[in-house]
Amino acid sequence: MSMTLSDCSNIREGFPRPFPDTPTNVLQQFNMSGKVAVVTGAADGIGHAVSEAFAEANGAVAMWYNSNDVAVKKAEALAQKYGIKVVAYKVDISDAEQVKSAIADVVRDFGRIDVFVANAGMAISKPILEQKLEEYHKQISVNVDGVVFCSKYAGEVFQRQGSGNLIITSSMSAHIVNVPTDQPVYNGTKAFITHFGKSLAREWREFARVNIVSPGFFDTKMGASPLAINEAYRMAALGRQGHTKEIKGLYLYLASDASTYMTGSDVLIDGGYTLP
Ligand SMILES: NC(=O)c1ccc[n+]([C@@H]2O[C@H](COP(=O)([O-])OP(=O)(O)OC[C@H]3O[C@@H](n4cnc5c(N)ncnc54)[C@H](OP(=O)(O)O)[C@@H]3O)[C@@H](O)[C@H]2O)c1
Repeated sequence: MSMTLSDCSNIREGFPRPFPDTPTNVLQQFNMSGKVAVVTGAADGIGHAVSEAFAEANGAVAMWYNSNDVAVKKAEALAQKYGIKVVAYKVDISDAEQVKSAIADVVRDFGRIDVFVANAGMAISKPILEQKLEEYHKQISVNVDGVVFCSKYAGEVFQRQGSGNLIITSSMSAHIVNVPTDQPVYNGTKAFITHFGKSLAREWREFARVNIVSPGFFDTKMGASPLAINEAYRMAALGRQGHTKEIKGLYLYLASDASTYMTGSDVLIDGGYTLP
């Protein structure tokens, strides 16, 4: 049963909580100095753009990659260019033990984790009637298990620290049944992590913020396939895919002190694809 008005008038100890001790100048709020961020899927695409954004804002970055070891050179290049600490770590996020020990490695090397961007993902885009069960399991193991493992072990660090910030890369495919490619398993994995992230925002309310980014098509390896590209241009109100430089500001906003009142949000950034 819901509370009555007289129940509601009872003052709860500790409420309202104080406003955060953050700068009022908005450009200072975006500064990541002193913050340590982990980004998964950081070798290329959206994850690399996000790593670059954090480095440009003076934050330290742990760039996680799986198979694309160009991440090692890219981490060195960012460290040199911006004079901050950037280190690459090879981690298969579908392996819980690897995730757990890589998180311990980052804490050992950087001292803490302020922001964790669970960005890595993959797709085997097929109708379910053509999808092999191994292909189904593979997508679940990266897109669902991987995000759950990263969140669980990063969350333990956040709880210990008394602060933290998780950002999950989901997809507009968690909002819509994407067209023209039938890919129910991929769509389902993204719907899972969106709702999982919102649920964590409540579970972790005493010590961490959690938000979700839902991109439309961006021009990366996971962007629109050659068969779907013309429909992607037609569906997006802006008539094109996004460039990864156009998503950097959103992740920086969510990672920084500019978004301290934001938790449990799911932000679509899709060029108007999901409008109709
Ligand atoms: N591009 C789009 O149109 C679009 C739209 C909506 C959502 N997204 C989401 O955005 C995220 C980033 O994708 P992207 O577009 O930037 O494509 P991308 O460059 O192909 O990035 C995907 C990343 O996931 C990593 N990854 C895959 N399996 C992994 C595993 N088992 N362990 C650790 N990392 C693994 C890959 O690492 P390695 O290369 O090192 O193996 C790769 O860096 C994904 O979650 C994707 O679902 C993309």
